Amino acid sequence: MASKIVHEQPTIFIIFGATGDLAWRKLAPALYNLFVDKFMPHNFAIIGNARAKMTDEEFQGKMLEGVNQFSRNGKADKTLWKEFAQHISYQSSDVQDNASYKSFADFIEAFETKHKSKARVIYYLAVAPRFFPIIASKLAENNLATDPKTSRVVIEKPFGHDLESAKDLNVLLSTLFQEEQIYRIDHYLGKEPVQNIMAFRFANSILEPIWNRNYIEHVQISVTEQLGVENRGGYYEGAGAMRDMIQNHLLQLLCLVAMETPINFEADEIRNRKVDVLHAMRKFEPDDVQKYVVRGQYAKGWLEGEDVEGYRKEKGVDPQSNTETFAAVKFFVDNWRWQGVPFYVRSGKRMHQNTSTIIIQFKDVPHCVFPTQVTDNWQQNRLVISIQPEMSIRLQLQVKRPGLDMVLNTVDMLFNYKGTYKHGEPEAYETLLTDIMEGDQTLFMRGDQVEAAWELLMPILNAWGNRKSLSFPNYQAGSWGPELAEALIAQDGFHWFTLPFDNE
Ligand code: BG6
Repeated sequence: MASKIVHEQPTIFIIFGATGDLAWRKLAPALYNLFVDKFMPHNFAIIGNARAKMTDEEFQGKMLEGVNQFSRNGKADKTLWKEFAQHISYQSSDVQDNASYKSFADFIEAFETKHKSKARVIYYLAVAPRFFPIIASKLAENNLATDPKTSRVVIEKPFGHDLESAKDLNVLLSTLFQEEQIYRIDHYLGKEPVQNIMAFRFANSILEPIWNRNYIEHVQISVTEQLGVENRGGYYEGAGAMRDMIQNHLLQLLCLVAMETPINFEADEIRNRKVDVLHAMRKFEPDDVQKYVVRGQYAKGWLEGEDVEGYRKEKGVDPQSNTETFAAVKFFVDNWRWQGVPFYVRSGKRMHQNTSTIIIQFKDVPHCVFPTQVTDNWQQNRLVISIQPEMSIRLQLQVKRPGLDMVLNTVDMLFNYKGTYKHGEPEAYETLLTDIMEGDQTLFMRGDQVEAAWELLMPILNAWGNRKSLSFPNYQAGSWGPELAEALIAQDGFHWFTLPFDNE
């Protein structure tokens, strides 16, 4: 996807929060891989900024550790790393301190003089959200992001804690920068199979006629994780599954499934179509929340043969915590295409498997011509988009099993990335960083999108905030979540499909 502009324009990355997890686990491997794959500009610099005192060499060492541990390509190549590391420096300072912004300005000026060209400067806010306003304000105050064509500000989630705070942040950012400079990250949008949803839907003419309420019975979107909250108890306590996963990643997946066909591939056109979906989604009344939404919190249990603690015993977590580590919702998209089609969405921590899947369940045949003994394994057609761990799209169909008798069973028409493509897929952050360099906002959240997502969820969050769950903890670590989540879907006659994909 990289174009000439990526190579020709000198680029500076200034990473705030450079000693944090994100910089170490995600940004270092992504930047290094882009360098190795020759997607970085010829002239670039990476400045890490954080409070901890560190030399350039120490910071480079930390980044190298990140690459060695988390890169999709394994350990860094010694020679290439040496070359790459020459572009990395570190500056220890407090984000409140004007002097640090002054030294960024000096750095940029010297860099531009050296390369005889205006630089593209990317300010990456890999920091806790409470620092967003101060860093953004200081960048503006110090005239560091005055040119919308060359300076970009990247903001990691969570973008706000609720509708009000998201609005406040949007207002602040819009007074300091142009929208075209603001890159709100939802890293799910950078995942290959997620990008493929649009290609799959809009580049294949056979799908559009059946992609609606006439043929689709229901949709399931599941993102389940075996991980608990690790070292993020402090953050997670104030977030929970609804804010951490559903508000952003899962709603974005839902939008990609439900959006209308865009008229072109322009960032704003695509983002408009996604906002349309959020606007069409039914807002719950307080009384609906119990009917359509389930929350859960994990108790101790067994996962992959290991005994794991309950959420309330995790580091940084209140022993009486009311934070949900699981959420399931039955959503509706009230428009012509989707009227009456339920979208079941669930996400949880410490679940039985790591899976991210979208399942489109088609309606049954209008009339079954086969006798019952032939159709023992009958299954309605199903399209399964697997985002992780497997990256695949499978269409499940009924066929006749070979043999003298007529017996039907379900088979998969499978597109699997592994078998189809030889080269490894870029990590989400590689795609996103390239797009930021190129100034392509398609895979980033626009301010109104974020607000629309919060608006949709506020009735649920308010209802939960007003009433503590008396049943927490209500699912065992290593299970598929609370029983009520099974009931949410079972009452409509369906069940959650899990890996390996069950061909019942
Ligand atoms: C993050 C959440 O946005 O996404 C984490 O804050 C979650 O809690 C992570 O673990 C999941 O991302 P992935 O790419 O591992 O599925």
